Amino acid sequence: MSRYLSRSVQSLRPSGIRRYFDIAATMDDVVTLGIGEPDFVTPAHIVDAGVESLQLGQTGYTSNAGIYELRAAIAAQVEQRYGLRYSPENEVLVTVGVSEALFLALKILLDPGDEVLVAEPCFVANPALVETAGGIPVMAPTSADNDFQVTGASLEARITPRTKAILLSYPSNPTGAVLTREHLLQVAAVAKKHDLVVISDEIYERLVYGVEHINFATLPNMRERTIVLSGMSKSYAMTGWRIGYVTAPAAFTEAMYKIHQYLIMSAPTTGQVASLQAIRSGEDDVETMRQQYDRRRRLIVDGFNRLGLSCFEPRGAFYAFPSIAITGMDDETFCEALLQEERLALIPGSAFGESGRGFVRASYATSEANIHEALDRLGRFLTKRGLIARAEASVFAA
Ligand SMILES: Cc1ncc(COP(=O)(O)O)c(C=O)c1O
Repeated sequence: MSRYLSRSVQSLRPSGIRRYFDIAATMDDVVTLGIGEPDFVTPAHIVDAGVESLQLGQTGYTSNAGIYELRAAIAAQVEQRYGLRYSPENEVLVTVGVSEALFLALKILLDPGDEVLVAEPCFVANPALVETAGGIPVMAPTSADNDFQVTGASLEARITPRTKAILLSYPSNPTGAVLTREHLLQVAAVAKKHDLVVISDEIYERLVYGVEHINFATLPNMRERTIVLSGMSKSYAMTGWRIGYVTAPAAFTEAMYKIHQYLIMSAPTTGQVASLQAIRSGEDDVETMRQQYDRRRRLIVDGFNRLGLSCFEPRGAFYAFPSIAITGMDDETFCEALLQEERLALIPGSAFGESGRGFVRASYATSEANIHEALDRLGRFLTKRGLIARAEASVFAA
């Protein structure tokens, strides 16, 4: 039946993440550091707001762009945090997660064959959605040697007459890297020089540790050419509510709105009401969760380094990205063997692009007990191969 499918869909590769979950799902007693979503449930007062809206009979569509009060609350929060002003009337759009927002942003910019520079390793959807929107992803690799920072020179080297946009997502899934101001300015200079639009996926903006998050649109002259994407999923532990949003100049949001109204009508009503509650009263929850992630981050990074898997210090999101070079295995073989032998699920770095090869992604959005258990299993795995001494491995026993 595949002859019926479009060439673009046929050429789309399945996500490299899914496969490991499928294998893990067939096994008992798996410890997983594979999952890229908060392990917390949505704070109770936010859940209550959603439930109450259902009980009040708010079960219909909302205005296409999203409930006005929510758009106003988003605009107010962005202004308070970053000093950026967006009009709730036509510069804020509420979407079905950043996922929809990312697709819309690409779709309004790209004609067939247009190119998008994508900093890599990156979220698995980035190149896939560029292709789905008719474009060509041009990957700009980064490396652990420079803390996974994308450089202006690397972007500049990949510019062609078809380059239309730069797609950034920092704090990064999968590396946890946060771009320094210096590197952000380099990206901004390339965008300005070549008149490109920057799509900046800042979904992990609230989850940073010891560094400040810089909204790309705050950089000099960047507001006018930047589409910022963010949402509720990660900061407020609300992945299932499916609410994201766009803040951008009206020319972009209005174009995105044109597709959104036909494709989606409006983002989930219950999720929008809950998001309004989250933005108005969820600050303490964000901070409590952030502090817990930070503790786990230090635990896991220290653990990997002690086991000899050199791990650069992630400053954002909830991922660590250690190198598995000492094992002499490729990342896919390593993850499969680890899953089969120790029932520990990590994700091969190459699932996030070529420059992730030789690394693995470990999500620390899981309990400290799970992290201890995972490090213990990893220690056993490495000990069996003579890569570390037994004594070193045992310090991680929960
Ligand atoms: C970088 C990045 N962007 C977007 C998303 C999807 O977010 P949402 O739940 O808002 O669709 C994810 C989810 O893992 C992500 O890691």
